[in-house]
Amino acid sequence: MPSGQYDFVVVANRLPVDQVGTEPDGSPRYETSPGGLVTAMAPIMAAHDGAWVGWPGAPGEVGEAFDADGIHLVPVPLSTTEVADYYEGMSNGTLWPLFHDVIAAPEYHRHWWDSYVAVNQRFADAAAAQAAEGATVWVQDYQLLLVPARLREQRPDLKIGFFNHIPFPGYEIFSQLPWRRQVVEGVLGADLVGFQRRSDATNFLRACRRAAEAVTKGGTVQVDDATGRREVRAAAFPISIDAQAFEDLATSPEVVARAEQIRKELGEPDTVLLGVDRLDYTKGIRHRLSTFAELLEDGTLDKESTVLVQVASPSRERVQAYSDLRDEVELTVGRLNGDHGTVGFSPVHYLHQSFPREEMAALYLAADVMLVTALRDGMNLVAKEYVAARHDGDGVLVLSEFAGAADELTQAVLINPHDIDGSKAAIVRAARMPADERRRRMRAMRRRVKEHDVERWAQDFLGTLAGEPREPQGQQ
Ligand code: F6P
Repeated sequence: MPSGQYDFVVVANRLPVDQVGTEPDGSPRYETSPGGLVTAMAPIMAAHDGAWVGWPGAPGEVGEAFDADGIHLVPVPLSTTEVADYYEGMSNGTLWPLFHDVIAAPEYHRHWWDSYVAVNQRFADAAAAQAAEGATVWVQDYQLLLVPARLREQRPDLKIGFFNHIPFPGYEIFSQLPWRRQVVEGVLGADLVGFQRRSDATNFLRACRRAAEAVTKGGTVQVDDATGRREVRAAAFPISIDAQAFEDLATSPEVVARAEQIRKELGEPDTVLLGVDRLDYTKGIRHRLSTFAELLEDGTLDKESTVLVQVASPSRERVQAYSDLRDEVELTVGRLNGDHGTVGFSPVHYLHQSFPREEMAALYLAADVMLVTALRDGMNLVAKEYVAARHDGDGVLVLSEFAGAADELTQAVLINPHDIDGSKAAIVRAARMPADERRRRMRAMRRRVKEHDVERWAQDFLGTLAGEPREPQGQQ
């Protein structure tokens, strides 16, 4: 296959832009969607000749490749059926629940798998067409598990990295997957496979041995394929955020003033608890609401002076488990406010919306206690955003031990969200924590998040892929 012209290619399910309708001439109209990944990649893209291959987020035809903010964007089309079968089906109805410890039941459908194979091939072909001779290609996440091998088949000259943003389950769970061998072999097309936590890498190595009968030694897998014998390395590279940018945003006078205004609008309560999540069953929103309800019912938290703000941004709404979750959460919020509210006061402020980053930063600043109660989460960047935003050194993070962030943010109040009594005690402890203890814990967490930001994450991964020795990782 003839090579393209880009030395560095990112392949991700989504482009860092969304298609939002069409121009008068019928061509697609795009809006930037600045996520953490693009922030990390932007300087690397600018320094090398960078291209980004991804889906623009709407079914149907896509326009030509185009340049935006120094990045060459290559849209990959998905038909309406492929959105249903590859994205909503195999990616978010099979792999997502399976990789999150079957919190919801995964469904196995052969036509979903067929679509997943076809779409992964399309992404691999698009990346192969863009990459220059000897380029580095970095494939992202569970929607594209087959891309590394399909890319290597056509382009053995490339350096291929793969990063799994979500957990990798234990083999007892992973082995349910009817296509477990194909998935492991797909990932093993990479030279380096990155995970959020060490336990994810360990689970993957075991899957290599069991599902693909591969030989592993330490963190490497020996692979024999058409291109000969190779060694694939698997390790933890915990992702992060652009901590400085978040702190700068939270320090701006507008955001500081907005945080004060939010507390006033909430009625100047003594304690503001905050939850910020995509509306996803992995986030433990129902557990959080039950815990809060019990604290109000038994009078441990004062109804008059405690509020919970729950931002639940809309997500994957056409997948049944997500619409069921929305119904349950909204029923529970309604009950809670019905049982414990008064005229003019509701204990839960539920917002089923996405907000701009400025508003999120203001909410973080306004919150005394941040609740991250995920039942399973690759990392949870909200936890790191809260810490980065707290330039005042105050605030308490209550963090599920089942979120990857718990390996690094050990000064949070760690909880098992399934243990309602334990979670209640942790919230009370957080709400009543003395100021010096709050500040000591926040200082340690801020140091960690600022030193291990998203830029360092990308450099660590790409440096290791390039064969450089890794720096010691510190606590993790
Ligand atoms: O990390 C998990 C992930 O699926 C990412 O790949 C994605 O950017 C994010 O969650 C949001 O999900 P979606 O692209 O399905 O809206």
